[in-house]
Amino acid sequence: MTDTTHISCSAPVSAEQTAVEERLTEYVLASFDNASDARLKQIMRALVRHLHAFIRDVRLSEAEWNKAIEFLTAVGHITDDKRQEFILLSDVLGASMQTINVNNEAYRNATEATVFGPFFVDDAPEIPIGGDIANGASGQPCWVEGTVKDTDGNPIPGARIEVWEADEDGFYDVQYPDGRVSGRAHLFTDENGTYNFWGLTPTPYPIPHDGPVGQMLEATGRSPMRASHLHFMVAAEGYRTLVTHIFVTGDELLKSDTVFGVKQSLIKNFDEQLAGTPTPDGRALADQTWARTRFDIVLAPAVA
Ligand code: BEZ
Ligand code: FE
Repeated sequence: MTDTTHISCSAPVSAEQTAVEERLTEYVLASFDNASDARLKQIMRALVRHLHAFIRDVRLSEAEWNKAIEFLTAVGHITDDKRQEFILLSDVLGASMQTINVNNEAYRNATEATVFGPFFVDDAPEIPIGGDIANGASGQPCWVEGTVKDTDGNPIPGARIEVWEADEDGFYDVQYPDGRVSGRAHLFTDENGTYNFWGLTPTPYPIPHDGPVGQMLEATGRSPMRASHLHFMVAAEGYRTLVTHIFVTGDELLKSDTVFGVKQSLIKNFDEQLAGTPTPDGRALADQTWARTRFDIVLAPAVA
């Protein structure tokens, strides 16, 4: 009887067939022998090893290979300077988040990083401490306050804090065709490392799902929804730049965020205040409820 190797998801594969497949993998691996860039060589060899293992593991059919090529072609066709479907694909496969994990190893009590997302814009307006990032974006006003410190608890004055978020309809300013700049700004910590500003209570929204990535989510029974969040990017000389968000305690999407961005330490209470409750800075919001949250940020040293 022919010796066989069992491969998951499929019928047994004969020893002869296994040898043919392994020979091809070795042959392709050897094709990188003369690569002068050692890192590139390492990456290409690992890519081939994993790709061949995947094809052999699922016993990929030629029809499925064609479908994959069609899918990647569609991802390419919808991508332009405004829409990056490849990053979206990386996001929903958890590849973006895994790259963040690999590159932002936990360092003492430093705040954890999470996915960047496609909606950051350079040159968002500067606001003073206590300013309002909404600039016309709709939503419940939310007072956000906190500190930026190093891992020994020393305040970091002058840290640059970029914040951006979707409006209550689930859209970022850049998703509107009229060129508005709203729901985003930057500010700097004061001499005590403290900051505060008015933002909007975050609301859930779907990632762009009208393209091939959306079709893939649909076909696999996945939701395009992101858990409600407020984005931060915090930079200060001598410290690792932190890209993160804060999430909302109790949000039912925390467990199913479609880009796997949620980390327990980033879930914060957003406490709703009754209309008429005095605001921290005396802002008049007489007939409106508002919310408040606190996010104390700890930056790792740049060389950690
Ligand atoms: C976002 O948070 O804005 C986002 C992140 C990943 C993919 C799409 C959107
Ligand atoms: Fe976002």
